[in-house]
Amino acid sequence: MLLCVAAGTLHAAGPTPLFAQNGVVASRSPIASEVGVEIMRTGGNAVDAAVATGFALAVTYASVVFFFVWGFLLIHTAEGEVVANDHREKAPLAATHDMYLDEEGEVVEGLSTASPLAVGVPGTVDGLLAALERHGTISRREAIAPAVRLARDGFPLPHDIAQQLASRREAFAEHPATLAVFSKPDGEPFAAGDLFRQPDLAATLERIAEQGRDGFYQGETADLIVREMEQIGGLVTREDLAAYRSAWREPVRGTYREHEIVAMPPPSSGGVLLVQMLNMLEPFDVRGSGFGSAATIHRMIEAERRAYADRAVHLGDPDFYDVPIGLLTSKDYALERLADFNPKAASSSDDVAAGQLPPEGPETTHVSVMDAAGNAVAYTTTLNFSFGAKMVVTGAGFLLNNEMDDFSARPFTPNAYGLIGGEANAIAPGKRMLSSMTPTIVLKEGKPWLVTGSPGGSTIITTVLQVIVNAIDHGMDLGDAVAAPRFHHQWQPNRVIVERHGISPDTRALLEAMGHEQLVEIRWGRGIGDANSAMRAPAGLTAVADPRNAGGAAGL
Ligand code: GLY
Repeated sequence: MLLCVAAGTLHAAGPTPLFAQNGVVASRSPIASEVGVEIMRTGGNAVDAAVATGFALAVTYASVVFFFVWGFLLIHTAEGEVVANDHREKAPLAATHDMYLDEEGEVVEGLSTASPLAVGVPGTVDGLLAALERHGTISRREAIAPAVRLARDGFPLPHDIAQQLASRREAFAEHPATLAVFSKPDGEPFAAGDLFRQPDLAATLERIAEQGRDGFYQGETADLIVREMEQIGGLVTREDLAAYRSAWREPVRGTYREHEIVAMPPPSSGGVLLVQMLNMLEPFDVRGSGFGSAATIHRMIEAERRAYADRAVHLGDPDFYDVPIGLLTSKDYALERLADFNPKAASSSDDVAAGQLPPEGPETTHVSVMDAAGNAVAYTTTLNFSFGAKMVVTGAGFLLNNEMDDFSARPFTPNAYGLIGGEANAIAPGKRMLSSMTPTIVLKEGKPWLVTGSPGGSTIITTVLQVIVNAIDHGMDLGDAVAAPRFHHQWQPNRVIVERHGISPDTRALLEAMGHEQLVEIRWGRGIGDANSAMRAPAGLTAVADPRNAGGAAGL
């Protein structure tokens, strides 16, 4: 039986998780979640389902996915193997250290976010196909066929996506191919319920289904990309495309109160920071201190402040920079970092620097999948901003990313998420930019228990942290753990952002009295993060789409 639940709005008690025996998928698109479940219904495993859902998202969740993007895929197999596929974009070979600076050495606004120079070399197609080949059971054509059908035959445009398209018409109008894809043939904007067909994208998908990675990185698709780059003045060349390969990496591992944490290693900062922050919380009685109490929030903010200070200095692409993963994720280091913690007063970010280490020898979307056999996949993918560089490749039907902004354009100058970084994350040809994406699998008694992750730029890591703490420390079920109000601190700027109605007035007063004076209630979007998650329950599997957005969970 196919079950499907669309998420509602944020409320005090989270949504009732979807329950299923044989497989679950939670994603930002109910249609894409159903694609994954259909794959499992016809015998595919969780990896097959995640790959098919990933390709379907490229069609149904247009603002974020498409192909000129990247992602991190964390896989736990039924046999107990845990692997991470890194298909992060790379800087084009023509990229240079100071490419976003003017003659005075100042960062030129918009160059790394809203210009052809913002585009990195994409990894999604290589990563999804590599995962399918290594851990899937179905053919490439079977995995891509649902996406081809959705692009070719169309699907009724959901209300939220129609709104996104309408609100960006001015930006789309600057690039004719973008306007053509995101408007009706007569040039009028789409309305909710209109059939949204993408014939160019369907043709691109068919080439990938037919030829594998060569259907994207070589031949006609590569020609279309390179022609677009030449027309708009971008840097990505045929050589960049042909050379791109995703990387298999060893996941970051940690423990938290009898659970094992398996998360994404660099070039994600997510896994390292998540384990580091959990290590800083472990000696503290989070459960006793209570959900939403000033004491709990204070402790979590101070852990976040210190971990993000380390991110700015110590994290970057491990192929270019020796990231001290072992040290940063050790329990001893966490204790040392929190040695100056004052339970009654906030630290000042200006006084907190990155930890001194001895030498050692932002729009995104997340999918969680589990099957009955014990396979689990956490997959996070993005164009960076909503609609990326807002430029569609003419004739190929997909958007270009603006991921180059995740590099440090200049040491310690904030990027679009306010994140700062140093030489570890400086631009170099062929280097991967640092990410916050944190696909995570929590194991209980050695088996996948919680699969989670989120969009949200710098807030991704703290969103995942809170879902885990809510589930483990506060004993919340999956719906409540995902829906519960969130907050975020990232060292610099020195402020705490909180969701609307996220903290009570007296908690706010207590935190302010401790010195957390900059408590900013967010006014944008529908909250912090979008943690579509899955969890093993005693009698089966559960899944939930984050109620902050109109995603969907589906089960079998
Ligand atoms: N593009 C946002 C991130 O990877 O952190």
